[in-house]
Amino acid sequence: MLCIMGAFLNQPNQDPMNAQEKKAIDWKSLGFEYTKTDYRFSALYENGQWSEGELSTDEFLHLHEGSPALHYAQQCFEGMKAQTSKDGRVLLFRPQMNCQRMQNTSDRLSMPRVPEELFLHGVKEAVRANINWVPPYGSGASLYIRPLLIGIGENMGLRPAKQYMFRVMVSPVGPYYKTGGLSVIKLAVSDFDRAAPHGTGDVKAGANYPGGLYATRKAQELGANEALYLDAAERRHIEEAGSANIIICTRDNKLITPRSAAILPSITRRSIMDIARQELGMETEERAIDLRAELDSFVEVAACGTAAVLSPVGKIWFDDAWHSFYGEGEEVGPVMQQLYDLLCQIQSGEKEDNFGWTMEVPM
Ligand code: PLP
Ligand code: COI
Repeated sequence: MLCIMGAFLNQPNQDPMNAQEKKAIDWKSLGFEYTKTDYRFSALYENGQWSEGELSTDEFLHLHEGSPALHYAQQCFEGMKAQTSKDGRVLLFRPQMNCQRMQNTSDRLSMPRVPEELFLHGVKEAVRANINWVPPYGSGASLYIRPLLIGIGENMGLRPAKQYMFRVMVSPVGPYYKTGGLSVIKLAVSDFDRAAPHGTGDVKAGANYPGGLYATRKAQELGANEALYLDAAERRHIEEAGSANIIICTRDNKLITPRSAAILPSITRRSIMDIARQELGMETEERAIDLRAELDSFVEVAACGTAAVLSPVGKIWFDDAWHSFYGEGEEVGPVMQQLYDLLCQIQSGEKEDNFGWTMEVPM
């Protein structure tokens, strides 16, 4: 039996709030934390069909104890942001790509696809209903959007769920790393692997992440912000950080990024590579990158992702030593600074979006 508890709104399309009154929050001091907002969107899948979905005020789920999401991690998620533009519009960034990635993940985890129409409707409804929680333009904060797909309902053996829930929760957030803004971070190469060569590293399965909690703690004990993973087979090639992909500007002014079937294909990374090519005229390359053999050619390194945006990497710990970029200083290099500025300007509508990447949320 499906059992979902919550105070659902019968008319999700009704404007449930006064769109003008922003919440009284010190937006500039927000970190990457959960803040309870007013509404979330949920749709259910049963007997081969998705429900229309609706908004609810209840942040709790009441799930069957046998739910495959709980036992066998039949679960996946996405991460996106909504931002307020200078002229007051609320913009999403390439949401169709998050939907596509969630569909790829669903296929890999034997879950039903959330159709694009439902995905975009759920995301827009969750943002629209929480308009007062969308940080104002210029605050440096954004509304983080977390779509979830979970296998639910009665089950015991290792098999796919018969019912699923698609849910979209949102929370206003500030910078992912505590250092804030465009701050320089440190990464420590992990003794642990994130993903196996033919495993699930290239999809956004929740199960890819808990193994990294210990690796992150170990990296933080060394003074790093996050773990950096090398390829599991040879421990030579750069894969990615715990929550972000890696981009590198080399001595010959190329922007390179690891090619690997075990890393999450980052939408931010793909966008930055396009910006580098089309706006800065840089040559870009996606290829295997041998950390030790190529380190001397790295001029600027950064982690990138929805949460991380573009976070320059000042130092990497491996082979028992810190290896620094930009000399001994902690400043941001000119290429990463330009890429960060261009990305943020496109995302916030400050720069004309020649790529057609932003999507306005109708209010
Ligand atoms: N790599 C991992 C492991 C992630 O969790 C994320 C975040 O979603 C990324 C990379 C960056 O992906 P995106 O730019 O699509 O947010
Ligand atoms: C994101 O950047 O959206 C992510 O999902 C990364 C997460 C570990 C915070």
